Amino acid sequence: MITIEKQYSLLSHNTFGIDVKTDSFIEYSSSEDLKKILSDKLIKNPYLHIGSGSNLLFISDYKGTILHSKIQGIKLKKETDDEVFVQVGAGVEWDYFVAYCVSQGWAGIENLSLIPGEVGASAIQNIGAYGVEAKDLITQVETVERGTGKTRIFTNAECNYSYRQSIFKAELKDQYIITYVTFKLSKHPIYNLEYGNINLELTKYPEISLSTIRQAIIAIRNSKLPDPKIEGNAGSFFMNPIIPRSQFLELQKQFPDIPHYDMDKDCVKIPAGWMIDRCGWKGKAIGHAGVHSKQALVLVNRGNATGGEIVNLSQEIRTSVKNMFNIEIHPEVNFIL
Ligand code: EPU
Repeated sequence: MITIEKQYSLLSHNTFGIDVKTDSFIEYSSSEDLKKILSDKLIKNPYLHIGSGSNLLFISDYKGTILHSKIQGIKLKKETDDEVFVQVGAGVEWDYFVAYCVSQGWAGIENLSLIPGEVGASAIQNIGAYGVEAKDLITQVETVERGTGKTRIFTNAECNYSYRQSIFKAELKDQYIITYVTFKLSKHPIYNLEYGNINLELTKYPEISLSTIRQAIIAIRNSKLPDPKIEGNAGSFFMNPIIPRSQFLELQKQFPDIPHYDMDKDCVKIPAGWMIDRCGWKGKAIGHAGVHSKQALVLVNRGNATGGEIVNLSQEIRTSVKNMFNIEIHPEVNFIL
C-alpha cells in the first residue's frame, strides 16, 4: 500500500520532537510499492528517506519529499546446527526484532536492546552499543536503486562498514533504498559482557541468559538515556572521536583519568560524553536546548526547542571541547535543512 500526504507534520516522525512540516510524505509497505513510487516519479527533489527519525534534527520545514518504509516481516531464511539467517523488513522496529531474537534463543544481538529506530536505518548507520555493532551481524542488505528501480543486494563487505559509517552514508548516499536486511545469529550464545558495567548490572539477576542480558542492557540504558516521549532527543548527539595514539598519550599526561578504547595500534577512541562533561556542560541549557543531566553526549529538547537552538548549543559544545582538548567532535545526528 502507498499513502501520500501533503503539507504533513513531522512531529511524530522525529524523536527530537521538532515541529516542522514536509511538502510531501510517502509511505509504502512493499518493494513493489517502492518500485511503483519510483517509476511513477512520485518523489520530488530534494528527498529524504527516514526510519523512525531517531537520528535526525530538522532545522526547518522540508521542501521536498520524505519517504518512510513500512515493509514488515521477520523470516527465517536458513538454519544450520549453529546459526540462523533471518531476513527482516526495513520498516520493522529495531527493538521488536531484538526482542523476537531473544525470545527465539538467537544470540548476538541482545546487547543492542532498546536502541530506537528501524531495521533499514540500522544497516545505514551501523548502530552499535555495549561492544556490538550491527555490522557484526549483517550478512546482506537488499536495496532498490533509486535511479533505475532495480533490486541490488550488497554483501556485508560491499557495505564498507566502520564505526557509525557505511557506503550508504558515503559514496552511495541517497542512491539506494534499503528494503530488507539479513542477519546471522548464533544458536550457541557467546556473551559479550565486557563493556562498561554490564557485569555489575547482571549481578542483580539470578542467572546470565539472553533474556537477563537484554533486561540488564535495558536497565542501563533507561538509567542514562532520556525517554524521547518525555524529553525529545536523538540519543548520542556526537560521535566518539578517533585520534592518533600519540595525541592520546599527550592528553593522558594532562588528564590521567581520560577513558579510552583502543581501536588498533595507532588509534584510540575517546568518549565525547566524558569531554563534554569535563567542559562543564552536563545539565546546562541554552534557551530550550539542553544537555542531558545523566549523559552529556545527549542533547535534549526541553520543550518547544527549534532545530536552530539545538544546532547553536551543539556548536558551543564543539568549541569548548576543541578549546580544552584540541579535538574536533562531529555530530552523529543528521541535520536536515
Ligand atoms: N562519560 C562521562 N560523562 C558523561 C558521559 C560519559 O564521564 O556525561 C564517560 C563514562 O563514564 C564512560 C565513557 O564516558 O567512561 C563512555 O560512556 P558510555 O559508556 O555511556 O558510552 P558513550 O561512549 O558515551 C556509546 C554510544 C552509545 C551507546 C554506548 C554504550 C556513540 C556515539 N555512542 O556512548 O550509543 O549506547 O556507547 O555502548 O558511540 C547512540 O548512538 O545513540 C548511543 C546511545
